[in-house]
Amino acid sequence: MAEEQAPPVRRICCIGAGYVGGPTCSVIALNCPDITVHIADINAARIAAWNSDPDPVTGELVNLPVYEPGLAEVVKKCRGRNLFFTTDIEKAIEEADLVFVSVNTPTKKSGMGKGFAADLHYVEASTRLIASVSSSSKIIVEKSTVPCRTAASMRTILEANARPGLHFDILSNPEFLAEGTAVQDLQNPDRVLIGSLKTKEGELAARRLKDVYAHWVPREKVYTTGLWSSELSKLAANALLAQRISSINAMAAICEATGADVQEVAHACGLDKRIGPNFLKASVGFGGSCFQKDILNLVYLSESLNLPQVADYWKQVITMNEYSKSRFAQKVVSTLFNTITAKKVAVLGFAFKKNTGDTRESAAISLCRYFRQENAFVAIYDPKVPEAQIWLDLTEPGVVDDTKQVKEQVTIHKSVQSACKDAEAVVIATEWDEFKTLDWEAIYASMKKPAFVFDGRAIVDPKKLRQVGFKVHTVGQGPEIVDPIWA
Ligand code: UDX
Ligand code: ADP
Repeated sequence: MAEEQAPPVRRICCIGAGYVGGPTCSVIALNCPDITVHIADINAARIAAWNSDPDPVTGELVNLPVYEPGLAEVVKKCRGRNLFFTTDIEKAIEEADLVFVSVNTPTKKSGMGKGFAADLHYVEASTRLIASVSSSSKIIVEKSTVPCRTAASMRTILEANARPGLHFDILSNPEFLAEGTAVQDLQNPDRVLIGSLKTKEGELAARRLKDVYAHWVPREKVYTTGLWSSELSKLAANALLAQRISSINAMAAICEATGADVQEVAHACGLDKRIGPNFLKASVGFGGSCFQKDILNLVYLSESLNLPQVADYWKQVITMNEYSKSRFAQKVVSTLFNTITAKKVAVLGFAFKKNTGDTRESAAISLCRYFRQENAFVAIYDPKVPEAQIWLDLTEPGVVDDTKQVKEQVTIHKSVQSACKDAEAVVIATEWDEFKTLDWEAIYASMKKPAFVFDGRAIVDPKKLRQVGFKVHTVGQGPEIVDPIWA
């Protein structure tokens, strides 16, 4: 029997103009000139930034609220053509055939599931708004990462509040983009996952969304599943990726204690096709808005399903990550003769990884906290993170009791050279490319001696730095063991 013709989607609304909604729907607009895309947000400042004017000299869009390589070009091409940023959320929803819900789902800070469960109140508020303003049937797509079976709650809210006669199909279409490569990941995804109910209507809605992606993604890359599998796959994918990093970081600790080199170990393991080479880069610890949050979410889900062993298993990935950060900070302190009190420590990089200005759960935040607790002076440099954001992260209420003291201990610098001047140690916390080609001779000359480099990302060549005069510690590399038997 021929498949029922799926009417094409003509108007898309995306609720939430953040790291996920902004880039995702801009790339949809780029590839689907026949579809009008409205990205709506309650945050007027954010929308104003998306609508900001180009730089008068270069013509570049330099003030977009999300920094992603290639994103400004995409927005420049589509904005005003078929891509619009607005605070008029109600109108954008009302006019759309398909609504992406791309709002934030942070970890709950209080109440039941505090510290683990996802806070779904933004998703619920968006769902209620869709129900109250819609005068036509729509496809509602979960884009935000949500716990398994959130679609069922959305359905109940929509059915209880929408006008009679309207029909809403709920799809799960999780986003797998990684920050820093978002545009590339969206343009050429490994897969697009669409989950729907296995009903005639559900499958038709999934086909309509598939047709949107088919504008630029080969159809065989669009994988359709049941709703709950799709919701869980996002959590599972992030948990598996984070688990690989914690696994290699656990190996890094063994390497440092034995004289093995974690980069060689990772390479040797990655040559096995079953293991593969990606996501085996030992580091000071993973950060970002997703890994920790999604694993905590999975832990909560497992506990609520009365699967405590499963919960404990995944919890260990986070425990190992916390250990990686504290072990690295401890290494700095012990190497600097067991005290960093009143010493200047330069922290290079504050973003959670390179090519992004995002600092959420960045390892650098934890490192700065450890160094401050040891009474060091911390000098920070990051090429992309705004100064105001660094202060916000370091003085977060509930984490820091004495904001004044933070300001006395921390300085933020506009250049590596200024951050490192008179420092006793340089700590590389983010793998920015520019740190690979620094003028290490000049940095060495300006530092106190002995001068130390602690490379938390294994990006600089320790041999070259040692030739300059530095004492170097690279994550996952033990001291070169000169065993008299082998010498
Ligand atoms: C992640 C997932 O990769 C993406 O699919 C999902 O949609 C969102 O979460 P993101 O957090 O943007 O993306 O960045 P990712 O590249 O995964 O890096 C996360 C953290 O792990 C970073 O702090 C990174 O530096 C660290 N990392 C990554 C390592 O320490 N070692 C590695 O080998 C890879
Ligand atoms: P993510 O990384 O998941 O994209 P962000 O915090 O970057 O998270 O973005 C989520 C966006 O969703 C924010 O800009 C926030 O203002 C917006 N948002 C949250 N709730 C609503 C809502 N009810 N209506 C519109 N926008 C919302």
